[in-house]
Amino acid sequence: MKKCLFVILLSVSLFRSYADEGMWLPMLLGQQVYNDMVKKGLKLTKEQLYSINKSSIKDAIVIFGGGCTGEIVSNQGLIFTNHHCGYGSITAASSVEKNYLRDGFYAKAKTEEIPSQGLSVQFLLKIEDVTKQVDSALSGLSGAERAKKQGEVLAAISAKYADPSKSLEAVVTPFFKGNQFLVFVYERYKDVRLVGTPPESVGKFGGDTDNWEWPRHTGDFSVFRVYASKDNKPADYNTANIPLKPKYYLPVSIKGIKDGDYAMTYGYPGGTNRYESSYGIKLSTDISNPALVALRDIRLKHMFEQMKKDPAVKLQLAPSYAGIANYWKFYDGETKQLLKQHIYEKKQKDEAAFLQWAKGKPEFENIFNEWGKAYEAWRPYAKHRQYINEGILGSPLTAFAASLAQVERALTMTGVSAADQKKALEDANTRRTAFLAAENKVSDQRILATTAMMFYSDIDKSQHPIGFYENLKGTYGDLKEEATYKKWATDIFNGTMIFDDAKWNAFIKIPTAEALQKDPAFAYANAFIKNYSSKYLPLYQTFNVKNNDYGRLYLKGIMQMNPTKIMYPDANFTMRVSFGNVKSYQPRDAVKYDFVCTMKGVLDKYIPGDYEFDMPAKLVELASKKDYGQYIDKQRNDLVTCFITTNDITGGNSGSPVINGTGELVGLAFDGNYEALSHKLSFDKDLNRTICVDIRYVLWCIDKLGGAANIIQELKLVK
Ligand code: ARG
Repeated sequence: MKKCLFVILLSVSLFRSYADEGMWLPMLLGQQVYNDMVKKGLKLTKEQLYSINKSSIKDAIVIFGGGCTGEIVSNQGLIFTNHHCGYGSITAASSVEKNYLRDGFYAKAKTEEIPSQGLSVQFLLKIEDVTKQVDSALSGLSGAERAKKQGEVLAAISAKYADPSKSLEAVVTPFFKGNQFLVFVYERYKDVRLVGTPPESVGKFGGDTDNWEWPRHTGDFSVFRVYASKDNKPADYNTANIPLKPKYYLPVSIKGIKDGDYAMTYGYPGGTNRYESSYGIKLSTDISNPALVALRDIRLKHMFEQMKKDPAVKLQLAPSYAGIANYWKFYDGETKQLLKQHIYEKKQKDEAAFLQWAKGKPEFENIFNEWGKAYEAWRPYAKHRQYINEGILGSPLTAFAASLAQVERALTMTGVSAADQKKALEDANTRRTAFLAAENKVSDQRILATTAMMFYSDIDKSQHPIGFYENLKGTYGDLKEEATYKKWATDIFNGTMIFDDAKWNAFIKIPTAEALQKDPAFAYANAFIKNYSSKYLPLYQTFNVKNNDYGRLYLKGIMQMNPTKIMYPDANFTMRVSFGNVKSYQPRDAVKYDFVCTMKGVLDKYIPGDYEFDMPAKLVELASKKDYGQYIDKQRNDLVTCFITTNDITGGNSGSPVINGTGELVGLAFDGNYEALSHKLSFDKDLNRTICVDIRYVLWCIDKLGGAANIIQELKLVK
């Protein structure tokens, strides 16, 4: 391990660094990057940031629920993360009678904390470089063969590092598009309980209107606690478990932030593709993004109509609605920013410069011809793929029905044992229970009808499943009429056994492929999925393998072309640190955005009774009295709600601690700004900002608004 680290450090430290762009592996910080951090205002040693032997900040950072970040803030396993990261757990703990999502909730004693089924947190224990091992296993391979072998090799290495008996999991992750491989070992804790949440009107204040935007006034936080066995080890939920004694926890500063202050985030950015080709950019802006946005638009509309009417439906659909809406707005914004900032043309320029360098280098000189051809071959089907994933399968009934293909296979394939058949049926039964619990039939039926119609009108006729629309026309009428699809969808909903317990149970008891194939929901899903998987999926897979191969080659060339440039790897849901400053910005000509938002702005935005801009009466009352206690920002004589920094983060970083130069928690990162929504594909160093909820607002909400002084007492406050 030590040796590998040394090799990487040596190669990394040769490079030169750049602005605040960069998501660095905290365990592999080169001296140069560390020096840049110090120049920006960091007062800590490298060892305090990350250490193998001693406790360090990295020990306070967790993967929260498999897609977010959280941080430990007390010696009793208390966790802060975002409200939108705790959203599923908060909703699951709520009912129409005890509506914690709407009203908020704080446990005043540990016995009141609410177990959260399925929620876990993971601590990073160690990493090792396994590039040599992987490379030697893959040497000489390319294309599909390489992709397949790589999957096997990574799984085998992971298995060697994992130890399920100790809840140790290992993941080998490719870096620099497969030019480097690191294994990460995590310890997973499965007893995680909800400790507190503000009302949704605070935690999601501004809703989708304000999402991905600055100025911002959202109290996007929630509080959890991780429990362990008596010997401080991972354990399944048990009332006998005790709060985890963490290796490290973050002190919390209520001293406030100033423009220019050092700010650092730790967390798990999910994915970026900063070396995406110009072809990829064009495919996104021309086809993939607009298709996704159009389809999500109508799904959201149908869901929202029902959620507005009924609090039970609202609770039922809220988590899935939030997820769909979040990336609906993201991809719409991404397209706009990619176009506005001429990213396609910029990438073309980069590629021209690369070709200049590649001249006479046979490994690289043809890369863009070949890469471009791969995109051209795939382009006619890209919209179809999106319409399957975001349209046809955007109906929850259709998605569930499509999953029954596993049952069909178990019933029709030769050589499937009786035990495997039974398992396929049991799995389907379990999935059906979960599907029904989350199902709102009214909105789903409308989604099903609308997406089938959109597929008909937007996808090239030559790609339609053979006979499907002809039959529909024969039975239900004009394919250009909405009414046709509505009648057809009604028949599917009334006719499928999926909603009919008696018919379903009869099928599970005596399952036959014929009965399944006759089911109208299954038949519909099957027609589209089979058509796609048999004709277009193979083309996608071919494209994907080539895209990966050329991507890896391009990056390899870029690294050779710039031997002294410090490069950070694209985000891939591994632990990263990013550093920068609290900083205002200029979104457009003549407009300057301040680096903080305050309670004054909350009151300005407040619209009583509104779906997105309502506020709890108590908040309005406390705010009108300026009852901010020790959390007040003296200089502004107001409560600071949110602030912005120049940090480089992306989805997955949600809940990440924002840490000052002396290692204290000053905020939680929860969003990115609209003007830089191209950030996954291209970082803009003038416009990019991370949006953070100020920790003083978090503590005020817990303490003054929520009355949970017990939580405040657990923290190590720096005043
Ligand atoms: N855009 C934020 C992110 O992706 C999520 C914000 C959640 N709030 C909301 N109104 N949807 O991390």
